[in-house]
Amino acid sequence: MYDVYKIRKHFPMLDGGVTMQNKPLVYLDNCSTTFKPKSVIDAELDYYKHYNSNSHRGDYDLSYQMDVMLEDARKAVAKFVNCEDNEVIFTDGTTASLNLVAYSYGLKNLKKDDEIIISVAEHASNVLPWFRIADLTGAKVIYVPLNEEGRVTPKNLLKVITNKTKIVSIAHISNVLGYEVNVKELGKIAHSVGAIMVVDGAQSVPHIPVDFKDLDVDFLAFSAHKMCGPTGIGALIGKYDLLLAMDPFISGGNMNITFKKECLADYRLPPFKFEAGTLNLAGILGFKAAIDFIQSIGIENIREHGKELFKYALSKLEGHDDIIIYNKTAEGDILTFNKRGVFAQDLATFMNYKGIAIRAGEHCAKLLDNFLETKATCRMSTYLYSTKEDIDIFIDALINGGDILDAYFND
Ligand code: ALA
Repeated sequence: MYDVYKIRKHFPMLDGGVTMQNKPLVYLDNCSTTFKPKSVIDAELDYYKHYNSNSHRGDYDLSYQMDVMLEDARKAVAKFVNCEDNEVIFTDGTTASLNLVAYSYGLKNLKKDDEIIISVAEHASNVLPWFRIADLTGAKVIYVPLNEEGRVTPKNLLKVITNKTKIVSIAHISNVLGYEVNVKELGKIAHSVGAIMVVDGAQSVPHIPVDFKDLDVDFLAFSAHKMCGPTGIGALIGKYDLLLAMDPFISGGNMNITFKKECLADYRLPPFKFEAGTLNLAGILGFKAAIDFIQSIGIENIREHGKELFKYALSKLEGHDDIIIYNKTAEGDILTFNKRGVFAQDLATFMNYKGIAIRAGEHCAKLLDNFLETKATCRMSTYLYSTKEDIDIFIDALINGGDILDAYFND
């Protein structure tokens, strides 16, 4: 039995003391970032209080202890997404992970007129690195058309993929429309023409079970802070044979075995080849604590909770024709909407006045405006600690906006 009130007790941000505009905070911007349970905060603090040392460098007990904890965290990440331990690279987060693939794999393997397939529903971090690589190699960025609902489908990938396609890179769950993409099927299609399949898992890994081996994709990127972990830490999962063949992206300490004056350098094997410099060790310990926390609740339960809240919100909006919903068929967690006659950012500002945090604008997916036929939308996103009461407060503000929203609506 999912006890959301018991779960909330783990979160200092939800203990009732935090207010916005002198009202109890109703946080519905979880796609952006999530709150951290006490165990994650403690794990970060523990590093500074008890384990503060560098990893893979010191010949003393404290540093060795750090090595063990770091590799334990790597094992926890690997187990969580079902890959091999040496396929986990710690990065700053999804953006850094996707840039790593773009520069280390893309730059080496793409040439003029090769094709990189993305969609217009991608977040900037799964668009702009590919623009850069296209610029540097002469490759072309091609867009898989969205279907009438706004989904990326295998059927539509088949319409654009060619023998020149070398990379297909798609978000597992769209951060705007919340649609879950069948990346396993996309991967099979990509592989059939010899391309690799890259998955932006920023919104999927925190919300649904993700099995890297079963999906049989080549790279998976995600961030800890969207799954109750610290900011500034995340992972890139990559098939080992691909990692082995890739050149380093960031170079520096600890990723090399030796280097000589003649510009010769020997690099360590993956994942270490891609982990230059001192890692965010406190963040890594917090990341592990976040995974432990999520596993104590169960990722399937988290998925069901998100679906239930999404259905609840939809049911409460039934009959309110002034609310435009862009993703009624989404799988859960994310509701994207507008109020007719009200500019999205004005609506978010009004919500702020009510103590409610939602996101408004383009949500970093700036190519989606033609499809949505609007430049800006509002997005309400829940997570494992969100309640039906949060939804009630949000819906009440949305449909009973009073003079402020009516003034716009009556314009
Ligand atoms: N990617 C985050 C979002 O969708 C920041 O809000």
